[in-house]
Amino acid sequence: MRKLNIGLSEEQRQGVIELLNRDLSDAYLLLIKTKKYHWDVTGPQFRTLHQLWEEQYLALTESVDSIAERVRTLGGYPVGTAEGFLKMASIKEHAGDVPTATEMVANLVEDHEQIIRNLRGHVGQSSEDFGDEGTADFLTALMEAHEEMAWMLRSFIEGESLVSDGSKTNAKIKSPVGV
Ligand SMILES: [Fe+2]
Repeated sequence: MRKLNIGLSEEQRQGVIELLNRDLSDAYLLLIKTKKYHWDVTGPQFRTLHQLWEEQYLALTESVDSIAERVRTLGGYPVGTAEGFLKMASIKEHAGDVPTATEMVANLVEDHEQIIRNLRGHVGQSSEDFGDEGTADFLTALMEAHEEMAWMLRSFIEGESLVSDGSKTNAKIKSPVGV
């Protein structure tokens, strides 16, 4: 790693670079999963979800780029191989599955929520353990972006059923009673 004179020790920078590479790996897997659902989705909400996932895919592409470039800003090198992303990510792939539209939305909500929990922890670690307020600020903004994407997705399954046969199947996530 190059020597930088920006008020952070090499250990501090290595600490946040490790966190950023984990967040980069999750963002990359989520980007792939979002694109796959953009392709696979069927049902009465096809057009809406197809378009929403295109928008989210583009937003995640920007995120991935900014996380990788923050790693470079701190003198490190971003993970950049499929194998590396799989090794460092916390979210899981669902190879071979073509779920219903409702299940796709629920899977992505779970992934965004996992990433939000990770980022919330990494914000604290960046500033408290590694003294890097810049990365804490950067990750806070990233967390807020995932919170918004999770809300957009969650809103689909909090109301009407999305399944094409019209049955109400989504028992996993429901609106609170009376709301
Ligand atoms: Fe497309």
